[in-house]
Amino acid sequence: MNKKRKNETILVVDDSPDTLELLHRSIEHMGYKVFSSESAEEAIEILKNEHVDLVITDYHMPFIGGIDVIKHVRENYKNTEVMMITGYASVEGAVEAIKAGAEEYLSKPFTDEELQQAIDRSLEKLAIRVMKSEQSKKSISKQYGIIGESGGMRRVADSIRKASENILPVLISGEAGTGKELVARAIHYESNRSGEPFIHINCRGIPETILEGEIFGYKRRGEESSNGDVKQGFLEMAGEGTVFFDEISETSLSTQVKLLRAFSGEITYVGDNVTRNIKCRIMASTSRDLIYLVRRGLFREDLFFRMNVVNIALPPLRERERDIILISNMFLAEASNEIGRAKVPVLDEKVVHYLLEYSWPGNIRELERLMRDIAHKVEADTIEVSDLPSYMRFNISEESRLNRTLFEVELDHIKDVLSKVEGNKTKAAELLGIDRKTLREKLKKQTQ
Ligand SMILES: Nc1ncnc2c1ncn2[C@@H]1O[C@H](COP(=O)(O)OP(=O)(O)OP(=O)(O)O)[C@@H](O)[C@H]1O
Ligand SMILES: [Mg+2]
Repeated sequence: MNKKRKNETILVVDDSPDTLELLHRSIEHMGYKVFSSESAEEAIEILKNEHVDLVITDYHMPFIGGIDVIKHVRENYKNTEVMMITGYASVEGAVEAIKAGAEEYLSKPFTDEELQQAIDRSLEKLAIRVMKSEQSKKSISKQYGIIGESGGMRRVADSIRKASENILPVLISGEAGTGKELVARAIHYESNRSGEPFIHINCRGIPETILEGEIFGYKRRGEESSNGDVKQGFLEMAGEGTVFFDEISETSLSTQVKLLRAFSGEITYVGDNVTRNIKCRIMASTSRDLIYLVRRGLFREDLFFRMNVVNIALPPLRERERDIILISNMFLAEASNEIGRAKVPVLDEKVVHYLLEYSWPGNIRELERLMRDIAHKVEADTIEVSDLPSYMRFNISEESRLNRTLFEVELDHIKDVLSKVEGNKTKAAELLGIDRKTLREKLKKQTQ
């Protein structure tokens, strides 16, 4: 009867010393570690200091009753289960207990066996609860739309968590479409400054003069007295929020000097000479190799070191093999849902092979576009190789392409044709320009 799982700790709460002692002995005998307390107050103290897996509490107790014990546990200890013992078969007590969050209740009198069974059921529920909460912890990488189970993305998820606990500058590097902006937002919205603004500044494509005014603020020359001619910049507007400089390498060297000061919390409006203090957090992204640019004198070394305090390097998608299919399915499901497709299409095994072999120069953005496009265009429930764009089908790496014998190439082609005609050998032979007998022979050879 007794299960192997006996590492759990059980806390028993009952105001009757005799019952308490009896329960304590029975449960200890079953092999669990037991704490017992004669009152809810004492139980609350024990819970503060000890890890308890299951609380078994009496219903009727003076001052604080069993229901309050249940509520206290549910509100404060996610990974602790509660069971209620009712003095008599009281339906109300049981209903109340379940409502308050107890998973099990037991009416007195009960046998040791009934007690053991109830404990088993409670601990099983606990195991499921813990597993679910572990999963949701793991899927922090899924929060804010970030998906990734690959080692690289797990490290990124850890970095996001750590970075969200402080306000140090963050530099996020990675190829186009790897999710740099997504990560910056995740850090901001995970942090306790999430209620403050997140301001995104695209440093590419904004002329320097306009960009500086936008970043630092400006004061129109010659009209010093008028307030109407002063405009706050993003660094000030962000308050205690985040300003994210996307593609920081695209700023001019003179803007970089001013940015360096901003990292010390000081700015001056364009056209002004008053020093102002800012409180925001600064993050930046780059898809270019900043060290290379520093060496060539195209990016200020001092600024690079000032902002490269927390560095998050996003791996290109081709290095996140485990994530490619995960993300593909997510986008397929999302797009199918949006257009009201009854069934989310599945990827044929061969398609998976092509997706893993492809180099993904546009990374996740490219994968997202492709999957959305497929969900719209392909009506069948299975996505076949022929549904992939031709540049992908011929992108199989040189090495694996040349490493095949003529026989393998021929066989692959035969299989492709066969799958296109749904296994109809007559049609396949016709398309292949051979007769059925030759086709049969070739297929037979494959199994030899
Ligand atoms: N791990 C991921 N899981 C799910 N979606 C992602 C993930 N990474 C990126 N995306 C999605 O891919 C697209 C590109 O992401 P994002 O704009 O953050 O990339 P980026 O590195 O800033 O790209 P660019 O350099 O082109 O500006 C977005 O739609 C984003 O939601
Ligand atoms: Mg971006």
